[in-house]
Amino acid sequence: MDPSHGSERPLSVRVCVPRETAAGETRVALTPDGAKRLISDRISVAVEAGAGVSAGFLDASYEEVGAEIVADANEILDEADIVFKVAPPTEAEADGIPEGAVLACLLRPHENEALIQRLAGRGVTVLALELVPRITRAQSMDALSSQSNLAGYKAVLLGANSLGRIFPLLMTAAGTLSPARVLVLGAGVAGLQAIATARRLGADTWGYDIRAAVKEEVESLGAKFVDLDEGGARDAEAEGGYAKELEAAEQSRQRELLARHIARADVVITTALVPGRAAPVLVTDDMVDRMKLGSVIVDLAGEAGGNCALSKPGETVVERGVTIHAPLNVPGSLPHHASQLLGRNLSALVKPMIGEDGVAVDLEDDVIGPCCVAHAGEVRFGA
Ligand code: NAI
Repeated sequence: MDPSHGSERPLSVRVCVPRETAAGETRVALTPDGAKRLISDRISVAVEAGAGVSAGFLDASYEEVGAEIVADANEILDEADIVFKVAPPTEAEADGIPEGAVLACLLRPHENEALIQRLAGRGVTVLALELVPRITRAQSMDALSSQSNLAGYKAVLLGANSLGRIFPLLMTAAGTLSPARVLVLGAGVAGLQAIATARRLGADTWGYDIRAAVKEEVESLGAKFVDLDEGGARDAEAEGGYAKELEAAEQSRQRELLARHIARADVVITTALVPGRAAPVLVTDDMVDRMKLGSVIVDLAGEAGGNCALSKPGETVVERGVTIHAPLNVPGSLPHHASQLLGRNLSALVKPMIGEDGVAVDLEDDVIGPCCVAHAGEVRFGA
């Protein structure tokens, strides 16, 4: 459905944006610019007073584009047809969402099954941004990508800021400074952005991923790919149990190769996540032991336990002279741009559902179907 066609009469659809209440959450689910776009598509927008302030957006900026500012936290949800949120709602917030309304947010569905049950029980339709499929049509709705992109960028700045060296090669009258060596483990969206950012700062940049297919992408950013299959232990494939032994031997050979790369790096940025599971440990205690004094690890997988065995999620620790950052909600440290992208993702996701007759949830849709975790009283996740 394209709400921009038809009469100029406002549609009877109201998008509501409450203020985020989770500790440390600085983002807002819709910026004034995003509100303006929805309003130009004849969709009403209501924003709770102060919702955008921590991301740098004043109430007046929302009002200027025609959004309504609602002072009362209990009132904002009352007339919602669609609720945009960043973090999952609290139980009290969930209970304030009207029956039949659509909630779209970063839900962390694997951790929030009871909440999904609660929302389903209230007849709320729930769209989990994490479950938007990675298909071409859904790229503009892909909040994991938009937020990971920012996290990858910020990880490099965190690493650079804690390092007692500069990133680029510098030739001065007093001598030449060699470039820092940055190793990025996991070359998905965050990892590739970290590689690009480290390259822009002039570091000697390396990338590694279990998916060998990303080698080309890493190299196209001017970085080097850590190829753990070099040396070809793989071609020694044999039959029966022997093959398995070799596999184990190869695995330990690969771990040793990776350990050597980690030991040579000044900054290691880790980004490996496996949806719904604890993050894999890529940097072990022993590997940290072998790192140089003053080197830095930025572990972007802190929210899933961390990729470094010594990471303390949400904290920065120094272990044997190595600074280990495991920040949580890294996109939230760039709330202005993170909100801008998240708002666009949310709008792109729900706009096709809105038409002259209101909001229609089409579970056959190849984006809405997979990301809808509750609808019409039914839980559609985890079965
Ligand atoms: P992610 O955040 O789930 O994981 C980050 C990276 O870590 C991935 O590249 C993964 O292969 C790697 N990784 C996992 N375990 C590892 C290990 N033990 N050692 C080393 N690396 C490890 O990934 P992200 O960024 O969410 O991307 C997931 C996939 O989706 C990728 O294949 C990506 O190219 C694809 N994608 C497709 C899009 C589209 O077509 N619209 C948009 C965004 C991503």
